[in-house]
Amino acid sequence: MHSAHSQSHHLLLGVTGGIAAYKTAELIRLLIKQGHTVQVVMTEAATHFITPTTLQALSGNPVFVDSWDTRIANAMPHIELSRKADAILVAPSSADFIAKLAHGFANDLLSTLCLARECPLLIAPAMNKQMWENPSTQRNIEQLLKDQVTLLGPDSGEQACGEVGQGRMLEPDMLLEGVQTHFTPKLLAGKKILITAGATMEMLDPVRGITNISSGKMGFALAKVATQMGAEVTLIYGQATAARPQVSHAYHASTAHDMYQSVMHHIANQDVFIAVAAVADYSPLASADQKIKKSEETLTIELKKNKDILADVASLPNPPYCVGFAAETERVLEHARQKRLDKKIAMIVANQADLALGNDNNSVTLIDASGEYPQDIADKTTIAAKILTHLKRQLN
Ligand code: CTP
Repeated sequence: MHSAHSQSHHLLLGVTGGIAAYKTAELIRLLIKQGHTVQVVMTEAATHFITPTTLQALSGNPVFVDSWDTRIANAMPHIELSRKADAILVAPSSADFIAKLAHGFANDLLSTLCLARECPLLIAPAMNKQMWENPSTQRNIEQLLKDQVTLLGPDSGEQACGEVGQGRMLEPDMLLEGVQTHFTPKLLAGKKILITAGATMEMLDPVRGITNISSGKMGFALAKVATQMGAEVTLIYGQATAARPQVSHAYHASTAHDMYQSVMHHIANQDVFIAVAAVADYSPLASADQKIKKSEETLTIELKKNKDILADVASLPNPPYCVGFAAETERVLEHARQKRLDKKIAMIVANQADLALGNDNNSVTLIDASGEYPQDIADKTTIAAKILTHLKRQLN
């Protein structure tokens, strides 16, 4: 199932000569899974790193390499192929190809397509770090940015040549995120949004703690989509198994107390606060310095109530627009309605705890002063887009 917030687009995917071309195979798979269609065009050099057959099989479309390809009826593949595309993405984009783009060369099919395009161009550089740092490459990149080309990456880390540094192509999932960001309308541009996500952990002793089974998926999905919609996102996260998205600011907070402190520290000037974290309601009265040894047949742990982050933010003198989550196992809507009123928050997202926790999908009802809005069951990215789109209407 693909995310409804990013409708399907037709991408012209350019592949140039670089080891990272093997990752393009995975990228194509991810793009197609999201509902996009992909037309691959390779440079001759790229075919030395991955075969057109592989990319044809994955994209489901014939791959073009040659400007003189006779498969296009009007013998103008450089015009034909780019006219159908919503965007061109060149991944990997070699240093040589970047130089060609910066100077407007058109001496093979892919560079000609880029020059003849009417659609946006995104590039994912991939090269050795010296090549990336070379003043000529940097000059070319600067020129491309001035020309409104979107740069995805590069990443830093280990390189195929054995060196470590900047120049690696972004991983396929990050490239997919970059493409999604490109296509997402900037509904929340200029808005500052603080989001808590994941589970807190209350330590009993140095090796044990009380936590819950929140995966962080819903909070991370909201952080990702809000970022794609142009918001400046501050993410305060506890324990999470899901992959954390790139956001403007991210801080780890382990305990409910730490999370409280961190939220209060960052809350000024936020337009929106979305509390998704599963915060422990209680923490141990005392946490042992050393590992607790087993002795008696029963062990009693005394707990004290934690402060409610969401309720306290909502009662600040000039509160942001507050959104809470109600994860319930019974009488979901009834409890959610009551929570919204008790915490004095603008919106609450009601969901069935046992279905939502840890799952990729969720089924929610949005409740605010204007009414109740049940949403179809969908993946958490889609649910996040629904919540943020609804919230945007309320902000106006
Ligand atoms: N929340 C918070 N700080 C806390 C506890 C909860 O910010 N100390 C937020 C959660 O992020 C979520 C909402 O409040 O948005 C959940 O409400 P809550 O009443 O705490 O839910 P439960 O912990 O499930 O409470 P109950 O056991 O009363 O159902």
